[in-house]
Amino acid sequence: MTTGTNEISGPATSSITRPEPICGMDTWMPVATRVTAIKRENLNTHTYRMEIVDEALRAQYRWAPGQFNMLYAPGVGEAAISISSDADTPDMLDHTIRVVGSVTRTIFRTQVGEILGLRGPFGVGWPIDRLDGRDVVLVGGGIGIAPLRPVIYWLLANRDRVGRVVVLYGCRTPEDRVYAEELENWAEHAPIDVLVTVDNATGGWTGPVGVVTKLLQRIRVNAERTVVMVCGPRILNRVAASEFLQLHVPPSQVYVSLERNMNCGFGRCGHCQYGHWFVCKDGPVFCFKDIADIFAIEEI
Ligand SMILES: Cc1cc2nc3c(=O)[nH]c(=O)nc-3n(C[C@H](O)[C@H](O)[C@H](O)COP(=O)(O)OP(=O)(O)OC[C@H]3O[C@@H](n4cnc5c(N)ncnc54)[C@H](O)[C@@H]3O)c2cc1C
Ligand code: FES
Repeated sequence: MTTGTNEISGPATSSITRPEPICGMDTWMPVATRVTAIKRENLNTHTYRMEIVDEALRAQYRWAPGQFNMLYAPGVGEAAISISSDADTPDMLDHTIRVVGSVTRTIFRTQVGEILGLRGPFGVGWPIDRLDGRDVVLVGGGIGIAPLRPVIYWLLANRDRVGRVVVLYGCRTPEDRVYAEELENWAEHAPIDVLVTVDNATGGWTGPVGVVTKLLQRIRVNAERTVVMVCGPRILNRVAASEFLQLHVPPSQVYVSLERNMNCGFGRCGHCQYGHWFVCKDGPVFCFKDIADIFAIEEI
């Protein structure tokens, strides 16, 4: 694997800010949050805007792009959900949630004004502090665009600090797109390149068709100066990481957000073990150079 002279050095996540959980580092006790708005993204995915009910806690709450909360549906349980809003407006918390099981189904039935529990923020976020002067390529698949959206907000607010910015997004059909209007708006008006592809071109779609990594053929990557961030289904993470490595992007510049079953969120229960890491505490964002050995083992 090449290690360009300009390669980012040092431990992958050492200098990344990690705001501490509002509820305390070691507690299972959620704080109350009120749903203030709900936006339908597609058939089974909504974005919930929430505010922490306690004003003092709300004012203290800080988080970094890529971190997640444990959301509690009263009487049902908790699920790990990425924070998908702008970290510069920390009192307005968005979570984009796709229904897969009991907790997400219950949240899906939640109405504006109702209360959910929240613990967090947990985990290590994206390497925002490593982007100065870099080209940035974001690769999202399906709901995987949710933890990348705060990075896009950061890049738009700090556009002069980075080089070229490319967002590659893929989903099954045009109707499955999450943040469809925002993606179109960024593609047309923002100083970033946004390319969206779908597996099946339904509803008169005239854009690219095929898996999201096929979009790589449409961009030029300057390997030495590019930082890559990937979030999607396991297979997308695997294929995208390997394709960027083949383009000679150093492993220290490829970041992947991983998904694991979560329970405590703070590194105690072992549910999210990934090799010698805990995804809740050491991730969910990992630098490829730190996980290359276990990433290669499909069963883990
Ligand atoms: C760090 C992190 C961030 C996350 N961010 C988000 C987010 O922003 N939005 C979001 O919608 N989800 C997100 N998830 C996934 C979410 O935590 C899980 O889907 C969670 O299990 C849902 O809880 P549940 O009780 O509804 O479903 P469960 O009862 O846990 O699962 C029900 C069934 O669905 C299956 N299942 C679970 N997860 C998935 C999945 N991802 N895809 C397909 N099948 C699945 C299970 O194997 C089980 O059979 C994140 C997970 C992690 C670890
Ligand atoms: S969720 Fe308990 S150790 Fe990670």
